[in-house]
Amino acid sequence: MATARPQLAPHTTPSPTAPNGLPPGPSGWPLLQILRYARRPYRTLEEGAREFGPCYTGRAPGQPPIVVFSDPEAIKDIFTADADEMHGGEGQAPILGPILGRKSVLVLDGARHLRERRLLMPPFHGERMQVYGRMIREITDRVIARWPLGRPFPVHREMQAITLDVILRAVFGLEDGALLARVRDTLLSLLKLFGGPAAAFLAIPALQFELRGLTPWGRFVRCRRELDRVLLAEIARRRAEGSAGRTDVLSLLIEARDEQGEPMCDQELLDEMFTILGAGHETTAGALSWAFYHVLGRRDVLERLEAERRQVAGDGPLEPEQVAKLEYLDAVIKESARLTPVITQVLRRVKIPMRVGDRDLPAGVNVSAAIYLTHHRADLWPEPERFVPDRFVGTRPSPYTFFPFGGGERRCLGAAFAAYEMKVVLAQVLARASLRVAPRYRMRPVLRALTVAPAEGMPVVMERR
Ligand code: HEM
Repeated sequence: MATARPQLAPHTTPSPTAPNGLPPGPSGWPLLQILRYARRPYRTLEEGAREFGPCYTGRAPGQPPIVVFSDPEAIKDIFTADADEMHGGEGQAPILGPILGRKSVLVLDGARHLRERRLLMPPFHGERMQVYGRMIREITDRVIARWPLGRPFPVHREMQAITLDVILRAVFGLEDGALLARVRDTLLSLLKLFGGPAAAFLAIPALQFELRGLTPWGRFVRCRRELDRVLLAEIARRRAEGSAGRTDVLSLLIEARDEQGEPMCDQELLDEMFTILGAGHETTAGALSWAFYHVLGRRDVLERLEAERRQVAGDGPLEPEQVAKLEYLDAVIKESARLTPVITQVLRRVKIPMRVGDRDLPAGVNVSAAIYLTHHRADLWPEPERFVPDRFVGTRPSPYTFFPFGGGERRCLGAAFAAYEMKVVLAQVLARASLRVAPRYRMRPVLRALTVAPAEGMPVVMERR
């Protein structure tokens, strides 16, 4: 089911320059620009590019101007820039720092960012993902088992349930029992805050006061403290008992050592676990919802997926080591991420005057590598609004034309994890349940906790199990 929209024309001539030396862009108050984006994320980016070309300047409250790029040459400049010349953490720190914690990899820059990434990377290495394959399959089965027959239910809510359970078990290493239930309840309260109308208040530093738990920020702080308390006790227990034989991410991080042989301190572990939850939960659930949106109306795609699964797994369940053989499923997931990326752009702060694409930029501005806009350029992706998984069969796209996970030294740490999880979940759901999009559903892309997802959780109906 493709979203029918006018195509973005390729622009080959350099964009003009506004009096402040930056490319021109939409006028209007920064607050209005960000509200417009919050209401119609994809459409707002499209309008900017259509009116001003592949490079324009946007505004957001409390931020320097954001120069938006969707030209592969410029994207390459952004992703290959020296980490000291462009900072990825600085722009996010005022908003995300108080939420994720000051030691979160997402808000750090320079040597501290590099140290954190080196510590976090090994547990997320592509080949390790198979360890979690059966667990993800079982979690998916449990969620499918509760779906009603013949009555609509929001697929996004169900995908959130799966991705949350995967994080609790594979990342936090919790097993069924009181501890898992307690952490899940606390996380659900937190996620409700971020998914609801109070989310905007959480992101505004001036509104981050506690008032004895009465404000949204106060409720957030209470939940976060509760989560930290439970996790600290668990970290202490694992440090004392040792993590031998454990395969979850938290246990591996407790054992990890940096180049000086130093382990991660408790606060680092807490902030990174919270970062992984924040970065990995809603994104993967949203990306799965989009994949269902694209495939459910397409009999040809469903038939090819089913044929491929049978060829690889026969009549039995899909085994973890077989996932890598599902080339068409991989292409389906990539095409879904191209057409409807859950993160629309990644930002960097320019630290020294420098040239990006055909532009000379002063220090202090932000640059955006616009994922959505680059993925929709007709010169890079013919008929960009059509869902055509074959674009990705037998080819390796350039990291500067296709980058749903960002790029360079800040590329998503969980990319292999997310891709593996999505493949197992999609393959399992499509093998076990016959779904269709609920009648009369009109899809609209909406912003949910900084990610873009189909509106109303995209209701689906299960016709057969
Ligand atoms: C479909 C799902 C996901 C998408 C689309 C996604 C996308 C992204 C993007 C665009 C970035 C910014 C990259 C940049 O600045 O260049 C990012 C960063 C990050 N993601 Fe993901 N992500 C997903 C799932 C996950 C998962 C499952 C995890 C962890 C289990 C995760 C952990 C992280 C972390 C830790 C960072 C920060 C990296 C850094 O600043 O060095 N993500 N992700």
